[in-house]
Amino acid sequence: MKNIYSNIYSFNGRILTKTVKYLNQDNIVGMPTETVYGLAGNAYSDKAIKKIYKLKKRPKKNPLIVHYYKIKDAEKDVQLTKYFYKLYKKFCPGPITFILKKKMTSKISPFTTASLNTVAIRFPNHKVIKSILKLLDFPLAMPSANLSSALSPVSAFDVYEEFKNKLKIIINAGNSKIGIESTVIDLSGKPKILRPGLISSKEIKKILKIRFSKKGSIVKSPGMLKKHYSPGIPIFIGKKPTDEECAYLVFGNKYKNKKNYFNLSKKGDLKEAAANLYKTMRKIKKEKYKKIFVSKIPNVGAGIAINDRLTRASK
Ligand code: TXA
Ligand code: MG
Repeated sequence: MKNIYSNIYSFNGRILTKTVKYLNQDNIVGMPTETVYGLAGNAYSDKAIKKIYKLKKRPKKNPLIVHYYKIKDAEKDVQLTKYFYKLYKKFCPGPITFILKKKMTSKISPFTTASLNTVAIRFPNHKVIKSILKLLDFPLAMPSANLSSALSPVSAFDVYEEFKNKLKIIINAGNSKIGIESTVIDLSGKPKILRPGLISSKEIKKILKIRFSKKGSIVKSPGMLKKHYSPGIPIFIGKKPTDEECAYLVFGNKYKNKKNYFNLSKKGDLKEAAANLYKTMRKIKKEKYKKIFVSKIPNVGAGIAINDRLTRASK
């Protein structure tokens, strides 16, 4: 596709150098990860982090995830635990975020963590962000690159739609493979899943050989409280559309090919459905449907994360 957007760049050595320089000057860059696209800035810099909150119109009480290239760097900022090492070994780099206690000596900006004494850390698995992190001497704070409470972006063009020319650099690396945000697990006390993702609690339990305490912690995950992941159109779950003015989000092979039917995965693959979720909701929004109805999606594996996002979007 011809690139008509002056702030969207393909990734190469020149843009890598430019991005690293720009991040070192406390600026913000839109970039891909394997889950969704993010808005990256220096996690140690008050100035950079303030810019992220302002761009996203994000409530100041909702902390950001800090992204690292290797354990040795994260060690400077957080207390790593035995559960962390077990999960790291199995899943990292990858789509999982750990909440850990912050070290007194950490240089992380209090704005990054919304002044909490814990930090959310992640080791992303995408060649673009990995090569950027390698060249920086600070980690990157990076929320999803959408306006607060809106749909997460899974392409550089989605990021452009959210911020237009307010960003000087958006790096394009095609569609995010996973398409849904990382699993967030709190390891600062008894392990607890705060946000379901592609890596399921079942898989995590198997590795940690434990049971989880009750899901969700109001105080600890401020970002999970309100309406979120919303396309800005009313969503009705488990119901059929009343007419063709309404979009029908479906899953599996028993649905017809109708204009207002949007199938997340014809072959009934939940991972494929997760990867298609935000992309499809954005499409429905662009086609100006007034309501979205959602067919039942199996509540197992990636289905748990899909249902979580849809439920929050419908609030
Ligand atoms: O896949 C992802 O995780 C993406 C990519 C870009 O890495 N990032 C992402 O960030 O989804 P964001 O800001 O959209 O979501 C971060 C979530 C929020 O729900 C926030 O409240 C929670 O993590 N969080 C961050 N720090 C926390 C902390 N110290 N304690 C509890 N929850 C925290
Ligand atoms: Mg987000």
